[in-house]
Amino acid sequence: EHESTVSITVVGASGDLAKKKIFPALFALYYEGCLPQHFTIYGYARSKMTDGELRHMGGRLSNRLFYLSIPPNIFVDAVKCASSSASSLSGWTRVIVEKPFGRDSKTSAALTNSLKHYLEEDQIFRIDHYLGKELVENLSVLRFSNLIFEPLWSRQYIQNVQFIFSEDFGTEGRGGYFDHYGIIRDIMQNHLLQILALFAMETPVSLDAEDIRNEKVKVLRSMRPIQLEDVVIGQYKGTTTKGGVTYPGYTDDETVPGDSLTPTFAAAALFIDNARWDGVPFLMKAGKALHTRSAEIRVQFRHVPGNLYNRNSGGSNLDRTTNELVIRVQPDEGIYLKINNKVPGLGMRLDQSHLNLLYSARYSKEIPDAYERLLLDAIEGERRLFIRSDELDAAWALFTPLLKEIEEKKMIPELYPYGSRGPVGAHYLAAKHNVQWGDL
Ligand code: BG6
Repeated sequence: EHESTVSITVVGASGDLAKKKIFPALFALYYEGCLPQHFTIYGYARSKMTDGELRHMGGRLSNRLFYLSIPPNIFVDAVKCASSSASSLSGWTRVIVEKPFGRDSKTSAALTNSLKHYLEEDQIFRIDHYLGKELVENLSVLRFSNLIFEPLWSRQYIQNVQFIFSEDFGTEGRGGYFDHYGIIRDIMQNHLLQILALFAMETPVSLDAEDIRNEKVKVLRSMRPIQLEDVVIGQYKGTTTKGGVTYPGYTDDETVPGDSLTPTFAAAALFIDNARWDGVPFLMKAGKALHTRSAEIRVQFRHVPGNLYNRNSGGSNLDRTTNELVIRVQPDEGIYLKINNKVPGLGMRLDQSHLNLLYSARYSKEIPDAYERLLLDAIEGERRLFIRSDELDAAWALFTPLLKEIEEKKMIPELYPYGSRGPVGAHYLAAKHNVQWGDL
């Protein structure tokens, strides 16, 4: 049998029908392998047009977004294929990747290098989904668009800042992944540190992604190396409640080695060695299998100097009642400010009240999930909420020496019962820095 060829000539090739229906249909037939092996398509039209112009109008820009929701050991292979065989020829190609981005500075740098072998930095969208949370997005609005906060945002008025993450469930089903990383890599090095950077950064030149990320990198690079004495680690153990319900310990998980020292809880005191924050403790606390699920930022202000209302009470009345600003990231999203107020009545008694902005009461619209916002941003090329590679390097540079030390010294985590408030060591750590956790 002779091989044949077919030529298809579309007369009216510059028209609407050709553009919307005929060329797409031809392409679909080709794509599905339904056209003969050898074929040529001609376009014929009265409009004056070059080949290039015809080609251009025949198709829309085809942009491609790859979301790599896969284990890190196959990241690079997938990126390689996306870049060499599946990149868009006419539009953009972007790749969304999720942590873990390595497990220390070295492995993270290796991963970045291999990714950059196939992609430009501006094609890589590193997700930290906490940056997509409404209240985290709002942090900069709160700071930079209200006169009353930004002037107080420094060592002069702020005594300490706390970043607290807790979950009321364990690693159920994810033990295999988790045991290799632990809570410091899982939550602190990324989610809490990112929030800290947004909280503490200097005012960016503009809201441009690069301007904001420049400031974040700067503040991350100003952080003092974390000292082992400023860290407490814990691991949850099984427990049976009074009601007779039994909860498993971390090492009861079949995918976790029985002698695992991996922390499921950690608390740490961090410091930023710059003019704004010199000496202010930034406390982080993150844990699984605790009594509650929440994520919040707490800003504790200094005492009122020479407080009039403190004088005749022997110090007992108001001694610890400093102002505190709480940004509740989840659940029950809200922002409240603790203030001292006179209890109404003829006497002069003070108590602490809340100026309270509860999102569910103020806004009827449902808060979009972090991933919705981030996916949309990636499609629109908005990089503000994604992690640039130098930010990632700075985050690892801060945590890698600490993690190495914990692992080399085989530091033993303090056990705490499933569903409890975590190890008492966290209180000693706070007390050492003259702080009380605000979430108690
Ligand atoms: C992930 C961690 O990044 O964040 C998980 O790997 C954690 O361990 C999760 O459970 C928490 O996210 P969210 O949005 O439910 O608070």
